[in-house]
Parts: sequence; C-alpha cells; structure tokens
Amino acid sequence: MRVGVLTGGGDCPGLNPAIRAVVRRSLQHGFEVWGIRNGWAGLLDGGELIPLDLQFVSGILHVGGTKLGTSRTNPAKSEAMMDQVQRNLERHGIEALVAIGGDDTLGVAHRLSQRGVHVVGIPKTMDNDVVGTDYCIGFDSAVSIVVEALDRLHTTAESHHRVIVVEVMGRDTGWVAIMGGLAGGADFILIPEEPHTLDEVIASLERRRQRGKNFSIIVVAEGVVMPELANKEAICERDAFGHVRLDRRCVAETIAQMIGERTGMETRHVVLGHLQRGGSPTVFDRVLATRFGVRAADMVQAGRFGRMVAIQGNHIVEVPLEVAASGIKPVDPELIRLAQVFY
Ligand code: F6P
Repeated sequence: MRVGVLTGGGDCPGLNPAIRAVVRRSLQHGFEVWGIRNGWAGLLDGGELIPLDLQFVSGILHVGGTKLGTSRTNPAKSEAMMDQVQRNLERHGIEALVAIGGDDTLGVAHRLSQRGVHVVGIPKTMDNDVVGTDYCIGFDSAVSIVVEALDRLHTTAESHHRVIVVEVMGRDTGWVAIMGGLAGGADFILIPEEPHTLDEVIASLERRRQRGKNFSIIVVAEGVVMPELANKEAICERDAFGHVRLDRRCVAETIAQMIGERTGMETRHVVLGHLQRGGSPTVFDRVLATRFGVRAADMVQAGRFGRMVAIQGNHIVEVPLEVAASGIKPVDPELIRLAQVFY
C-alpha cells in the first residue's frame, strides 16, 4: 500500500517525531510511504512527493519544526480545490493519507474522508484546542517555553517593581495561557473563554500591592476578549482559513499601557510569539507523537479510516474525524476556577 503523510497549519515541536513514528511503523507493515510537502499546498500544485525511508526519518526525533514543511493553504475554500487534491492523491497512487494538523487541517481531512478518501488524522497544535483529545502534539513544548519565560520575567519584574504583561499564543482558546500561567505563578490570566474587565485586573493588582507585592506578572492569550480591546481586530488581516492575524493586535502592549495609565505603576510587555513554536519537543511531546504515529499507521493497516488518533486519560483512542472537525475545545472551567484562587 502507498501511504501519504502531510503536516498542515502552524508548525510546532513534535511533528518530526510523529512523522518518524508513522514511517517506521508503516515500513514494518510493508507500506511504501511518501511525504507531501507543505501541507495541502503540496496536493494543489501537483508538486512532487518525496519517498520517506529510514534515512529520511533518521535523527529527527528531537528536532523541532517539520521536515515535510507546512502551510496554511485551505483547499476547503472551494470544491474545485478539493477536486484537485483528490485528483493528485489518485495521480500519485496514494491509497491512504495520514494528515497531521490542528482543527483546520483535520477539517479538510474530514471533508476528504466524506468524499471517500482513506484518511487518518493526528492532532497537533500548540493551542491544544482539538475536540476529542486531551492533548495535542506541541502543546506541552509550548507551555514549557512559556513557563521558562515567566520564571525569568519574575525576577526582573520584582527587581524593578514592574507589572509585566506577557502575551502568549492562543487564538480562540486559552490553554497555553492558563496552563503556563498556573505553572509559572501568574498573578492574573486573561483568556478568551473567561472575559474580565480592566477594573478586575487592576483590583487584583491593588490587592497584591496591599500585601506588599509591588510587582506582578499578567499572562494574556492573544485572542483574549476584553471590553476595552473591542474593535481592535477590525484593523487586522486574515489568513487563508479566515482567522484574524492576532500578531497584529498587540493586546499585551495595549493592556500594559492601560494599566500604567490607570495605576501609575511602571509596566512592560513581552510577546513570546513564535518562540513558543520553536526548538526541541519535550519528553511528553516526543512520546505522545510516537504513540500517535504508531497508532495511525496501525489504523491504516487495519483499514480504520475517517478517524483521528487521540489521547483520553492516558489511553490512546480513536475518534471520528467528524468530532475533530466539529469545533474547538475550550479550557476546562475547573482550570479557570483553579487559576482564580490565586488572583
Ligand atoms: O494555530 C496555532 C497558532 O500558533 C496560533 O496560536 C496563532 O494565533 C497562530 O498559530 C499564528 O500563526 P502564524 O504562524 O501563521 O503567524
């Protein structure tokens, strides 16, 4: 059997270990494995596929990014593009496709599956917001980078008696912000799921000041919802999936300025940006990606298509791609309440 593998959407640490696991297990099953470059773009322009052998996946377990390349190309924008993807898969003789990506990539995988293409999905996104799985590849690595940054920012914030507003990724959900903020001792965490006003943030800073703490760290997810930030996205561009380019919104800078003006405290802001998506995957992500990749190849071998591999509890399970394509997974309210204990 000829199996194709692609990585789509934003990159993150853990993609290479997933590719390695799919290839190693597929070769054991006697499959021929081909890599599709740059996500769905590699099936639109009819670009050449590359053979994935032991040599290709050698030495990539610890390497960040994706050796296959990625893009945010969205063929689901038109039926003609979907036809082209399907035609190119047929032209290359790809009988099964392993699509590694977030909700957008998995949404396209689901559409292909509905057209009869044999697809298996693997969830990856540092946002950790794919429905049906507790964790996605890349999330643990991103949070680890955030926590290291918060540890460093704490010492300088304390020395200078400053408020530092730290912006982390998270377009629709605040998984990275809440988990990073909890582990890094943030004094307030602002996420899309739980809107807060500037007054609430300032009241919390005042309570800290009364306890003798004249410095604070505030973590904000880039997609945060705050009445004071309304209409900022109107000025931002959108990507191929129609998402606002949140890196242009600079919420941390605006919030830091507003806090400075209202409290008289000295403020700074830091945008961690793509640092969160770079570097080596953590142990958790390497093992998760390896478990996902091996199971995905086993699903292909067993003919279990139209599904996504997932982790629930500590068990690797399979869920319909339809579930992954059904929306996004918000932060667990229990975690939000836990964080609020410390404001
Ligand atoms: O989709 C993952 C993500 O990291 C989001 O959290 C973020 O908004 C977006 O990608 C950034 O995309 P790009 O790398 O295209 O700027």
